[in-house]
Amino acid sequence: MKASTKISNELLSRLNGEIAAQLVSQVPLVGEVARYTIDSGGKRLRPILLLLAASSLEYQDRRAVRLAAAIEFVHTATLLHDDVVDSSVVRRGTQTANERFGNAAAVLVGDFLYSRAFQIMVDVGESRVFRIMADATNDISEGEVLQLSNVKNIELTVESYFEMIRSKTARLFEAAAMLGGIVAGGDNRVVENFGKYGAHIGTAFQIVDDILDYDGAEDQIGKKLGDDLAEGKITLPMIHALEHGSDEDVAVIQAAIFADGAADLRSVVDIFRRLDSLEYARRLAKLEVNAAEKVISGLPQSVYKDCMIELAATSLSRIK
Ligand code: IPE
Ligand code: IPE
Ligand code: MG
Ligand code: MG
Repeated sequence: MKASTKISNELLSRLNGEIAAQLVSQVPLVGEVARYTIDSGGKRLRPILLLLAASSLEYQDRRAVRLAAAIEFVHTATLLHDDVVDSSVVRRGTQTANERFGNAAAVLVGDFLYSRAFQIMVDVGESRVFRIMADATNDISEGEVLQLSNVKNIELTVESYFEMIRSKTARLFEAAAMLGGIVAGGDNRVVENFGKYGAHIGTAFQIVDDILDYDGAEDQIGKKLGDDLAEGKITLPMIHALEHGSDEDVAVIQAAIFADGAADLRSVVDIFRRLDSLEYARRLAKLEVNAAEKVISGLPQSVYKDCMIELAATSLSRIK
């Protein structure tokens, strides 16, 4: 997904300038690891969401750009930590920071980015922003722990899966969109609707990410296929297949979940295809996108509103 084309190059370069300026540290390794991760690409989806929301209310001042950088730092910190806990070795088409610098450096620089994000928010000085980000980051941590508690839990329900992804992923999209509304001086109803819009997009985005873990192309998603299977993570296509498969299908899937690694990926994907489990997950993602579009339909017409609608749609068709 080329989300970066959805806001002006000028705004995007202000964002990247702010990010670079905030990565300064007295400790060279901090800057090295942080820059390695932040410069390795990334779609900048959450800061772009924030900037689009603010721009739709005709606000593009530096405070918005600073908060957008803070959101990207929180996102990057969660990825640094997530790749350690998931033992992931490839992200954004290159080695993960844990693979390149070791787990200790990845975790510690993740902490640095988290706390730098909160320093930026203090500078912006808006109490509603603290509240939202304190709650969002706390929920993200809970979501990741919830996922850990459910590793290899073949009884996981669709409801619990949604609860998990809303916390670990959708919350940050929700917060990003709300911050855009707040910094632009939007009224409570607008901010609330931005939040709902972000939460729906984030939910769709994680469902699609989970589909791509089985159905993507490594060079396009920049990550290894089968990471979820290797880690025993139960995601939406898997829940569907466990419920609708024959006894033999269920036995194959269970063996794959409990085996080390993802050697059985092919057989699992074949079962998913036969049972339309990936299609099922795509349908649920589409419902989230529809809901996101509906929530912002009342915004006054603007090029940014169009971009927000387009962003919702592209979360389904993303490749990278
Ligand atoms: C990856 O998010 C983590 C998930 C929530 C699936 P992104 O796909 O937005 O990560 P980058 O920043 O673009 O690499
Ligand atoms: C994303 O979860 C991490 C967070 C939202 C904190 P995943 O583990 O599913 O994402 P990828 O596949 O590693 O990007
Ligand atoms: Mg992961
Ligand atoms: Mg994933």
